[in-house]
Amino acid sequence: MTLKNIYLDQFIKVAERAAYGASKFRGKNDKIAADQAAVDEMRTEINKINIKGRVVIGEGEMDEAPMLFIGENVGTGIGEEIDIAVDPLEGTNFTAKNLPNAISVLAVTRKGDLLSAPDTYMEKIAVGPDLPNNLLDLDNSVEKNIKLLAEAKNTQPHKLTACVLKRSRHEKIIQSLEKLNVKINYIQDGDVTGVISVVDNNSNTDIYLGVGGGPEGVLAAAALDCLGGQMQTRLVLSDDAEVKRAKKLGITDLKRKYNISDMVKDDVIFCATGVTDGDMLKGINLINDNEFEATTFALHKSQKISKIVKNIIKK
Ligand code: FBP
Repeated sequence: MTLKNIYLDQFIKVAERAAYGASKFRGKNDKIAADQAAVDEMRTEINKINIKGRVVIGEGEMDEAPMLFIGENVGTGIGEEIDIAVDPLEGTNFTAKNLPNAISVLAVTRKGDLLSAPDTYMEKIAVGPDLPNNLLDLDNSVEKNIKLLAEAKNTQPHKLTACVLKRSRHEKIIQSLEKLNVKINYIQDGDVTGVISVVDNNSNTDIYLGVGGGPEGVLAAAALDCLGGQMQTRLVLSDDAEVKRAKKLGITDLKRKYNISDMVKDDVIFCATGVTDGDMLKGINLINDNEFEATTFALHKSQKISKIVKNIIKK
C-alpha cells in the first residue's frame, strides 16, 4: 500500500523544523541542547499532521527519553496508522563544533512496515544500484566482499573506494582494505550520510562497511530502498540488557541478517535536512531576523521521487 503524496510535503516540514532547532546551537559546544531543540521542534511539527503516528525508532525507550521515545504516539490522532523513524539530530558533535554533515532525518511507512531497531550497534554493509542482487554478505571476509564488488563492477579492488567510520573497532576492516589497496573515505561521525554516499552520484564511494548505530542503519536503509541500493545489517547486542531491549521490540532472532526488504517492507518516505553545510546538503541558512532557508533531500519510493527541496520558512 502506498503512502499518500501529501505526507512528503508534511514530513519535509518536520525535518526542516528539527534542523532549524538544532542550528541555533551550531558551534555552541552543547550537543545535548542542540539535540533537545531538534527534538522539540520535530515533535511540535509532527503533531500537526493528521495521522495516528507511532515512533518506531526514536530518541530511546520510554523510560530513558522524555520525548519521541520508541512507542510514543504522535500526530493529531486522526487519520491512518503510520510508523515513523526519527533521528532529530544526526551528528550531535558536528553541530556542537559547527562541522559539516549534521542533518535532521526521518523515515515514514504505514504501520508495521519499518523495523523497530533498538539503540544498539549494528553491523552494516552497503553498495549502490545496478549490481547483482544480494551481492555481498556480512559473513564474507572483507577480502571476499571487495573481490565480488570489483568483479560485479568490472574493475579492480584498488580502483574501489570504501567509506568507513573512524573508530578503533574498525581496525581489522581497515587493515584488510589497506592490504587490497582500496581507497578509504573516513568519516568521523554521521553514518546515515556515510551509507547514503554509496548511492550519491556526487560521491566516489563504492561500498560502506562497519559498525554504527542501529537506528541510523534503518534510516539509511529507507533512503537506499528509494534509490535502488543494497544493504545488509545485523544487530550487535553486547550484553543482557541490550538483548532484553531488542526482545522488547519484538526481535526474536537476535543474529538475523536484515536485507533492505526486511527493514523496510513497503512504501517509504525519507527526508533529511541539513543542519550544518555538508557533502550532501547545505545547512540552515539564516536569511534575516524572521526567515531561514532549509535544504532537504526528499524521497518517496512508490512515487519514484528523489529531489532536493529548498524552502524559505518563517522562524
Ligand atoms: P549522534 O548524532 O547521536 O551523536 O550519532 C552520530 C553517530 O556517528 C552515528 O552516525 C553513528 O551511527 C553512531 O554515532 C556511531 O556511534 P559511536 O560514536 O558510538 O561509534
